[in-house]
Amino acid sequence: MAKVVAPSILSADFSCLGRQVAVLEAEGAQILHIDVMDGHFVPNISVGPLVVGALRCHSKLFFDVHLMIERPETYIDIFAREGADHITVHWESTKHIYRLIQQVKASGCQVGVALNPGTSFEVLDCVAGDLDMVLIMSVNPGFGGQDYIADMSAKIAKAARWRADNKAHYRIEVDGGINMDTAAVAAEAGADVVVAGAAIFGDGKPGEAWKRLQLTING
Ligand code: DX5
Ligand code: ZN
Repeated sequence: MAKVVAPSILSADFSCLGRQVAVLEAEGAQILHIDVMDGHFVPNISVGPLVVGALRCHSKLFFDVHLMIERPETYIDIFAREGADHITVHWESTKHIYRLIQQVKASGCQVGVALNPGTSFEVLDCVAGDLDMVLIMSVNPGFGGQDYIADMSAKIAKAARWRADNKAHYRIEVDGGINMDTAAVAAEAGADVVVAGAAIFGDGKPGEAWKRLQLTING
Protein backbone atom coordinates (compact mmCIF):
# COMPACT_ATOMS: atom_id res chain seq x y z
CA MET A 1 0.00 0.00 0.00
CA ALA A 2 1.34 3.45 -0.92
CA LYS A 3 2.36 5.66 1.95
CA VAL A 4 0.46 8.89 2.33
CA VAL A 5 1.22 12.43 3.51
CA ALA A 6 -1.72 13.95 5.40
CA PRO A 7 -1.63 17.76 5.56
CA SER A 8 -2.49 19.16 9.00
CA ILE A 9 -4.52 22.35 8.76
CA LEU A 10 -3.10 23.59 12.06
CA SER A 11 -0.47 25.59 10.17
CA ALA A 12 -2.79 26.71 7.35
CA ASP A 13 -3.83 30.29 6.64
CA PHE A 14 -7.26 30.28 8.28
CA SER A 15 -8.33 33.40 6.43
CA CYS A 16 -8.52 31.28 3.27
CA LEU A 17 -8.74 27.76 4.66
CA GLY A 18 -11.18 26.46 2.05
CA ARG A 19 -8.91 27.57 -0.78
CA GLN A 20 -5.80 26.06 0.80
CA VAL A 21 -7.56 22.72 1.24
CA ALA A 22 -8.83 22.82 -2.35
CA VAL A 23 -5.26 23.28 -3.64
CA LEU A 24 -4.10 20.14 -1.81
CA GLU A 25 -7.11 18.18 -2.99
CA ALA A 26 -6.42 19.18 -6.59
CA GLU A 27 -2.76 18.14 -6.17
CA GLY A 28 -3.84 14.63 -5.16
CA ALA A 29 -3.90 14.60 -1.34
CA GLN A 30 -6.31 12.01 0.04
CA ILE A 31 -6.34 12.60 3.79
CA LEU A 32 -6.84 15.90 5.63
CA HIS A 33 -5.64 15.90 9.23
CA ILE A 34 -7.74 18.17 11.46
CA ASP A 35 -6.32 18.94 14.92
CA VAL A 36 -8.89 19.68 17.60
CA MET A 37 -7.52 21.22 20.82
CA ASP A 38 -9.45 22.39 23.85
CA GLY A 39 -6.92 24.31 25.97
CA HIS A 40 -7.17 21.62 28.69
CA PHE A 41 -5.79 18.34 27.35
CA VAL A 42 -3.20 20.46 25.57
CA PRO A 43 -2.32 24.12 26.24
CA ASN A 44 -3.49 25.33 22.84
CA ILE A 45 -6.99 25.89 21.40
CA SER A 46 -7.66 25.24 17.72
CA VAL A 47 -10.82 24.37 15.82
CA GLY A 48 -14.06 22.52 16.57
CA PRO A 49 -16.98 20.83 14.82
CA LEU A 50 -18.08 23.99 12.99
CA VAL A 51 -14.87 24.06 10.96
CA VAL A 52 -15.17 20.36 10.14
CA GLY A 53 -18.73 20.96 8.92
CA ALA A 54 -17.76 24.02 6.90
CA LEU A 55 -14.93 22.18 5.13
CA ARG A 56 -17.13 19.12 4.56
CA CYS A 57 -19.39 21.17 2.28
CA HIS A 58 -16.45 21.88 -0.03
CA SER A 59 -14.19 18.84 0.13
CA LYS A 60 -14.31 15.14 -0.60
CA LEU A 61 -11.03 14.46 1.24
CA PHE A 62 -10.94 11.80 3.94
CA PHE A 63 -11.27 13.81 7.17
CA ASP A 64 -8.91 12.46 9.83
CA VAL A 65 -9.95 14.24 13.04
CA HIS A 66 -7.36 14.18 15.82
CA LEU A 67 -9.02 14.95 19.16
CA MET A 68 -6.69 16.47 21.74
CA ILE A 69 -9.45 17.22 24.20
CA GLU A 70 -10.72 16.17 27.61
CA ARG A 71 -14.02 14.28 27.84
CA PRO A 72 -13.80 13.19 24.17
CA GLU A 73 -16.88 10.97 24.62
CA THR A 74 -19.02 14.13 24.72
CA TYR A 75 -18.01 15.16 21.22
CA ILE A 76 -17.66 11.97 19.14
CA ASP A 77 -21.17 12.01 17.70
CA ILE A 78 -20.99 15.74 16.98
CA PHE A 79 -17.81 15.38 14.91
CA ALA A 80 -19.27 12.36 13.12
CA ARG A 81 -22.38 14.37 12.24
CA GLU A 82 -20.29 17.27 10.93
CA GLY A 83 -18.50 14.99 8.48
CA ALA A 84 -15.51 13.29 10.12
CA ASP A 85 -14.53 10.05 8.35
CA HIS A 86 -12.06 9.02 11.00
CA ILE A 87 -11.67 10.03 14.65
CA THR A 88 -8.50 9.53 16.68
CA VAL A 89 -8.74 9.81 20.45
CA HIS A 90 -5.84 9.99 22.87
CA TRP A 91 -5.19 7.02 25.11
CA GLU A 92 -4.32 9.54 27.86
CA SER A 93 -7.66 11.38 27.59
CA THR A 94 -9.91 8.68 29.06
CA LYS A 95 -10.11 6.00 31.73
CA HIS A 96 -12.25 3.90 29.40
CA ILE A 97 -10.41 3.51 26.11
CA TYR A 98 -12.30 0.35 25.15
CA ARG A 99 -15.68 2.05 25.56
CA LEU A 100 -14.48 5.11 23.66
CA ILE A 101 -13.25 3.00 20.74
CA GLN A 102 -16.63 1.30 20.54
CA GLN A 103 -18.37 4.69 20.64
CA VAL A 104 -16.35 5.97 17.68
CA LYS A 105 -17.17 2.81 15.73
CA ALA A 106 -20.86 3.16 16.54
CA SER A 107 -20.76 6.73 15.21
CA GLY A 108 -19.89 5.30 11.78
CA CYS A 109 -16.34 6.67 11.74
CA GLN A 110 -13.09 4.76 11.52
CA VAL A 111 -11.20 4.81 14.80
CA GLY A 112 -7.65 5.54 15.88
CA VAL A 113 -5.85 5.86 19.20
CA ALA A 114 -3.00 8.33 19.70
CA LEU A 115 -0.09 7.90 22.08
CA ASN A 116 1.81 10.82 23.59
CA PRO A 117 5.62 10.55 23.44
CA GLY A 118 5.74 9.34 27.07
CA THR A 119 3.21 6.54 26.57
CA SER A 120 4.56 3.19 25.47
CA PHE A 121 3.00 1.13 22.69
CA GLU A 122 2.25 -1.74 25.10
CA VAL A 123 -0.78 0.08 26.58
CA LEU A 124 -2.63 -0.80 23.35
CA ASP A 125 -2.05 -4.52 23.70
CA CYS A 126 -5.72 -5.30 24.49
CA VAL A 127 -7.27 -3.03 21.86
CA ALA A 128 -4.87 -2.59 18.94
CA GLY A 129 -6.49 -5.42 17.01
CA ASP A 130 -9.72 -3.38 16.94
CA LEU A 131 -8.19 -0.21 15.50
CA ASP A 132 -8.07 1.31 12.04
CA MET A 133 -5.15 3.52 13.04
CA VAL A 134 -2.46 3.87 15.69
CA LEU A 135 -1.17 7.43 15.91
CA ILE A 136 2.35 7.83 17.27
CA MET A 137 2.92 11.40 18.41
CA SER A 138 6.46 12.41 17.51
CA VAL A 139 6.17 15.73 19.36
CA ASN A 140 4.35 16.73 22.54
CA PRO A 141 0.86 17.51 21.27
CA GLY A 142 -0.40 21.08 21.18
CA PHE A 143 1.63 23.02 18.65
CA GLY A 144 2.89 22.84 15.11
CA GLY A 145 6.47 23.50 14.11
CA GLN A 146 8.23 21.44 16.80
CA ASP A 147 11.15 19.05 16.29
CA TYR A 148 10.66 15.34 15.63
CA ILE A 149 11.58 13.28 18.72
CA ALA A 150 14.04 10.74 17.31
CA ASP A 151 13.27 8.14 20.01
CA MET A 152 9.76 7.76 18.57
CA SER A 153 11.11 5.83 15.57
CA ALA A 154 11.55 2.78 17.83
CA LYS A 155 7.88 3.05 18.88
CA ILE A 156 6.82 3.19 15.22
CA ALA A 157 8.83 0.03 14.55
CA LYS A 158 7.22 -1.64 17.58
CA ALA A 159 3.74 -0.81 16.25
CA ALA A 160 4.69 -2.34 12.90
CA ARG A 161 6.05 -5.48 14.56
CA TRP A 162 2.95 -5.91 16.74
CA ARG A 163 0.74 -5.60 13.66
CA ALA A 164 2.65 -8.30 11.81
CA ASP A 165 2.82 -10.63 14.83
CA ASN A 166 -0.90 -10.29 15.56
CA LYS A 167 -2.24 -10.05 12.02
CA ALA A 168 -3.83 -6.70 12.86
CA HIS A 169 -4.82 -4.20 10.15
CA TYR A 170 -4.35 -0.70 11.61
CA ARG A 171 -2.45 1.93 9.73
CA ILE A 172 0.44 3.60 11.53
CA GLU A 173 0.28 7.38 11.50
CA VAL A 174 3.10 9.62 12.71
CA ASP A 175 2.38 13.19 13.74
CA GLY A 176 4.78 16.03 14.58
CA GLY A 177 8.01 17.47 13.26
CA ILE A 178 7.70 15.88 9.83
CA ASN A 179 9.87 17.46 7.12
CA MET A 180 11.80 16.15 4.12
CA ASP A 181 14.33 14.39 6.38
CA THR A 182 12.11 13.04 9.15
CA ALA A 183 9.36 11.93 6.74
CA ALA A 184 11.82 9.42 5.29
CA VAL A 185 12.92 8.35 8.79
CA ALA A 186 9.32 7.76 9.94
CA ALA A 187 8.39 5.95 6.73
CA GLU A 188 11.48 3.76 7.00
CA ALA A 189 10.54 2.88 10.60
CA GLY A 190 7.09 1.73 9.44
CA ALA A 191 4.75 4.74 9.16
CA ASP A 192 1.96 4.42 6.57
CA VAL A 193 0.66 7.97 7.03
CA VAL A 194 2.80 10.95 7.97
CA VAL A 195 1.14 14.17 9.08
CA ALA A 196 2.76 17.45 8.08
CA GLY A 197 1.69 20.95 9.07
CA ALA A 198 4.49 23.51 9.03
CA ALA A 199 6.40 21.66 6.27
CA ILE A 200 3.40 22.06 3.96
CA PHE A 201 1.70 25.31 4.94
CA GLY A 202 4.91 27.10 5.95
CA ASP A 203 5.90 26.83 2.32
CA GLY A 204 4.61 29.46 -0.11
CA LYS A 205 3.25 26.64 -2.27
CA PRO A 206 1.51 24.01 -0.10
CA GLY A 207 0.55 21.83 -3.08
CA GLU A 208 4.14 21.51 -4.22
CA ALA A 209 5.43 20.94 -0.70
CA TRP A 210 2.87 18.14 -0.25
CA LYS A 211 3.93 16.52 -3.52
CA ARG A 212 7.65 16.63 -2.61
CA LEU A 213 6.97 14.92 0.72
CA GLN A 214 4.72 12.36 -0.93
CA LEU A 215 7.48 11.45 -3.40
CA THR A 216 10.05 11.25 -0.60
CA ILE A 217 8.18 8.67 1.47
CA ASN A 218 7.42 6.52 -1.55
CA GLY A 219 10.87 6.86 -3.11
C1 DX5 B 1 0.44 18.70 17.10
C2 DX5 B 1 -0.55 18.28 16.06
C3 DX5 B 1 0.03 18.10 14.72
C4 DX5 B 1 0.65 19.33 14.15
C5 DX5 B 1 1.87 18.89 13.43
O1 DX5 B 1 -0.10 18.57 18.36
O2 DX5 B 1 -1.21 17.08 16.41
O3 DX5 B 1 -0.90 17.53 13.80
O4 DX5 B 1 -0.17 20.05 13.26
O5 DX5 B 1 2.52 20.00 12.99
P1 DX5 B 1 3.99 20.00 12.40
O6 DX5 B 1 3.95 19.13 11.17
O7 DX5 B 1 4.22 21.42 12.11
O8 DX5 B 1 4.88 19.42 13.49
ZN1 ZN C 1 -2.43 15.97 14.86
